[in-house]
Amino acid sequence: MPYIDWLGKDDVVHHHKEIAYKTIDCQEVVGDADSENMIIKGDNLLALKSLLPYYANAVKMIYIDPPYNTGNTSWVYNDNMDSPLIKKWLDSTVNAEDLSRSDKWLCMMYPRLKLLRELLREDGVIFISIDDAEVANLKLLCDEIFGSENFVANFIWKSRQNKDNRNITGASIDHEYVVCYTKNNGFRILSGDERKLDQYKNPDNDPRGLWTSANMVGLLPEDQRPNCHYDLINPETNIDYGRPKMGWRYDKSTMQRLINEQRIIWPEKIDGRPRRKVFLEELNDNKPAFSSILEQKFYTKDGTQENVNIFGSKKFDFPKPSQLVKLFIEQATNKNDIILDSFAGSGTTAHAVIEQNKQDGGNRKFILIETLDYAKEITAERVKRVQQGYAFKGKDKTTLYEKKITTTQLLKAKIMEKIATEVETLIEKEKANYTKIEKTFKENLLKVVGVKEIESFKEGLGGGFKYCELGVEIFDEFGELNSELTFADISKHIYFVEFKHPLKVESEALAPNSTKLKLSFPNLYIGSHKKRHLYFFEERFKIANMKKIVREQEAYKEMIVYTRKCSISDDELKKNKITVRYIPYDIKDN
Ligand SMILES: C[S@@+](CC[C@H](N)C(=O)[O-])C[C@H]1O[C@@H](n2cnc3c(N)ncnc32)[C@H](O)[C@@H]1O
Repeated sequence: MPYIDWLGKDDVVHHHKEIAYKTIDCQEVVGDADSENMIIKGDNLLALKSLLPYYANAVKMIYIDPPYNTGNTSWVYNDNMDSPLIKKWLDSTVNAEDLSRSDKWLCMMYPRLKLLRELLREDGVIFISIDDAEVANLKLLCDEIFGSENFVANFIWKSRQNKDNRNITGASIDHEYVVCYTKNNGFRILSGDERKLDQYKNPDNDPRGLWTSANMVGLLPEDQRPNCHYDLINPETNIDYGRPKMGWRYDKSTMQRLINEQRIIWPEKIDGRPRRKVFLEELNDNKPAFSSILEQKFYTKDGTQENVNIFGSKKFDFPKPSQLVKLFIEQATNKNDIILDSFAGSGTTAHAVIEQNKQDGGNRKFILIETLDYAKEITAERVKRVQQGYAFKGKDKTTLYEKKITTTQLLKAKIMEKIATEVETLIEKEKANYTKIEKTFKENLLKVVGVKEIESFKEGLGGGFKYCELGVEIFDEFGELNSELTFADISKHIYFVEFKHPLKVESEALAPNSTKLKLSFPNLYIGSHKKRHLYFFEERFKIANMKKIVREQEAYKEMIVYTRKCSISDDELKKNKITVRYIPYDIKDN
């Protein structure tokens, strides 16, 4: 099995475990106060770790668009792995010297991907945008972290509409990749493409209803599948259609069954190819698979235009078009899923989630993380504008005329004259209605578009989010519980450490911003998981406490009590199925 190694790897393979848990302080609510959406400002390494107590195994889809490591330093973010943030982090984490840009990039990605994986649900999926600079390294890295068996696809997105003529090699690199892995390959990951229902017809009034025809030519040569290589003869006409080079898709007995069931369409001509009837009614619920080549036509320039429309000027370099992320949301999520983007940039992922919810009435939630100062002015501001509406100055384009012109037509002067007259007349008629009229001829398509300069207000799509920052560490420098913690902070943390599941927020006391109770905390019930109950008795766990909790819970498997001191004998604890854990030493990520 190929294996990826790089300078500095040894220092980062366990690094995600060493990161301190911090509290997530959500002080600002934008729009709907009940919204569970979050935008977190901070280094994603710390933020992802701090999200674990709440969202481990809970995120259905992750989309990230990390720095591609192109070497560019002039964008709003640094794409050269030498920003002060990354330099400081590498200096404090990695011992090796003379790291190449790729070494640094891999060091940066490894612990973050490790944490992202922990946040994914078992049937969760991660999509990672990347280009040629690091795609090969990323593939091997993901094989190691997610398992090569969990690879789904390297989607190919045509990101440039027009050719790039700057490359001295003469190659125009017009695509990027979206590398996709699942956490556990036992599930269908993508919903697939809509069936083209208009392909199903019933010209022969078959009582089995609408049908389409399917190819029956085989896929393997005779030496690999000899039982599918035979002459196919129509039993009624005796026409022999021979055997294709790759044989037929079915062996003789299956073919005979299809013939008996009148499922074969026999061509009249001997050189035709028999095909099979496929009935709409008999198809299973699975839609046709989703192509790894994204055929939808949206490009990087559309992402920029979207950004300009929202902000009035270009505020971000190369944001992705929201349709790209929306496409994956459509494919990989259901209406109530959580979607995470830990390299949020201009907030495209949140935009896409909001659009998708609007489209299908969903209630998907987003969590975004962005480390740079523009987390508020760009990331959060864009999401706010999409939710609450914004003044829009731009161009409204309407296609007035479209004609595919074949080469034969091009060479016939009369036809071209007719088309030219059609276009001229149309332009004359429409020119008063538009600011300008554009004519284009590309890939044999003649297009006339009316362009109107408009100033209007784009209605908001609704919703809200919490704007959060990372707070204090759970433990202080002496390894003691930090005195700034709230009971909610500590409960969620303990619950996650104990059960490796996030504690569902059920009471006000446990909401992310519950009032700071300061130490010492009251004696409290934290929650349960599979009949194991978790309690917190900060000062001391006494006989009276034990009697109380045993009375409180009926059929339980185990009681787990976090405390500083316990004055109950081991026998007594065992008899009552109680495990005692000591504060602060046992409150660790085990
Ligand atoms: C390529 S951009 C993402 C663009 C985004 N997809 C969009 O459409 O706007 C990468 C973003 O990740 C952010 N970033 C880089 N390192 C980060 C880190 N350690 N923590 C959080 N964000 C980080 C950068 O500041 C930058 O905004």
